[in-house]
Amino acid sequence: MSATIAEPLLEVSHCKVWFTIPGQGVWNRQKQTLKAVDDISFTLQAGETLGIVGESGCGKSTLARGILGLETVTSGSIKLNGEELTTLDKKSFRNKRKNMQIIFQDPLASLDPRMTVSEIISEPLQVFQPELSSRLRKKRVQQMMLRVGLLPNQINRYPHEFSGGQAQRIGIARALILKPELLICDEPVSALDVSIQAQIINLLMELQREMGLSMIFIAHDLSVVKHISHRVMVMYMGKVVEMASRDDLYRHPRHPYTQALMQSIPIPDPTVERAKRGAPLKGDLPSPMDPPSGCTFRTRCPKVQQRCVTEIPDWKEKAPDHWVACHFPIT
Ligand SMILES: Nc1ncnc2c1ncn2[C@@H]1O[C@H](COP(=O)(O)OP(=O)(O)O)[C@@H](O)[C@H]1O
Ligand code: SF4
Ligand SMILES: [Mg+2]
Repeated sequence: MSATIAEPLLEVSHCKVWFTIPGQGVWNRQKQTLKAVDDISFTLQAGETLGIVGESGCGKSTLARGILGLETVTSGSIKLNGEELTTLDKKSFRNKRKNMQIIFQDPLASLDPRMTVSEIISEPLQVFQPELSSRLRKKRVQQMMLRVGLLPNQINRYPHEFSGGQAQRIGIARALILKPELLICDEPVSALDVSIQAQIINLLMELQREMGLSMIFIAHDLSVVKHISHRVMVMYMGKVVEMASRDDLYRHPRHPYTQALMQSIPIPDPTVERAKRGAPLKGDLPSPMDPPSGCTFRTRCPKVQQRCVTEIPDWKEKAPDHWVACHFPIT
C-alpha cells in the first residue's frame, strides 16, 4: 500500500523520554540520566502499520507510553492529526486519548479480574459516550464481541475463565469499541502460543482494513512483525538504527544490528534466509545508564572500526525511503 502522500495521522519529532535515576550506592548519591527514548522521529499514515522491533529494554514501551501521554516526554513533539499533544492540558489530552488506544502483552493482567467481559468492553463507552442508552451500549458490546471472535453467551463471564488468546480478544474489543484512529499493540502476542499468535495477528489485520486503523505494532522479534507491518523501525538503546518498508528491510537489512536480529528468526522463510548475511547477535545490552561512546551498538558489532568509537553515526537515507544510522552500512 502507498503510505507517503497525505498528511500523517501521527507525527513524532525528536522525541526524548529521559528518566532521572537516584544514585544507587552508599557513597554515590549522584543522580543519573537514563535515556530510554533518545531523539526519535517518525510518521504514521492513516491505515498504515509501523512495526517497532528491538531487544527488551531498548525503549519500545516507553516510546508507546510517551505517545499516549502515560509518560512525560522530556522534549520533542508528538502531533495527532496535526495537533500538538505534548502541550495539551489534562482534560484536552483525555479527549484525544479516546482516539488512541493500546493493547498489552499480558492480556489477563491488563483486564480487571472483578469485571465481567461486558463491563470491561463497555467501560470506555460509559466514560466517553455517557449519553448512550444501556440497550444501545449492550448492542455495541455484542457486535464488537462477535467481531473479535467472542461468543455472545460469554458476555457475563470473568477474565480468568478465558484462555490467553481469548483474553487478548477482549482487550482488542475494549480498545476498539470507541473506534479509535490509532491502536498501539505493545507485544500483544509475545505471551501466546505460536498458533494463537497468527490468529490474533490476522484478526488485527482484518480489523485494521475494516476500520481504517493506523497501528504501531511492537515486538522483540522480527518474525512477529513481518506479516502485519507496512514499514518497520528497528530500535537499539533508545534510538532508531534502521527504518524501511517491510519488503526492503527483510530483503536487504543494512544495519549490523538488524542483520543480527534477522539471524535469530527461527522460522524457515526464504526471504529471511537470503538476508541472513550478518553475524548472530552476541553479548548483552550495555547498561542504559552508561551507554558506549560513538555508536551505541559498537560493543556488539562485528563490523566495528575506530571511527565507531568516537563518532555518533548520522541518520542517512541509503536507498529510497530506507534510513540507517551506521558509518559502515551493508550496501
Ligand atoms: N519509569 C521508569 N523509570 C526508570 N527507568 C525506566 C522506567 N520505565 C522504563 N525504564 C527503563 O527504560 C528502558 C527502556 O524500557 P522499556 O521502554 O520498557 O523497553 P522495552 O519496552 O523495549 O523492553 C529500560 O532500561 C527500562 O529499565
Ligand atoms: S557505526 Fe560502526 S559499530 Fe555502529 S553499527 Fe555501524 S559499523 Fe557497527
Ligand atoms: Mg516493553
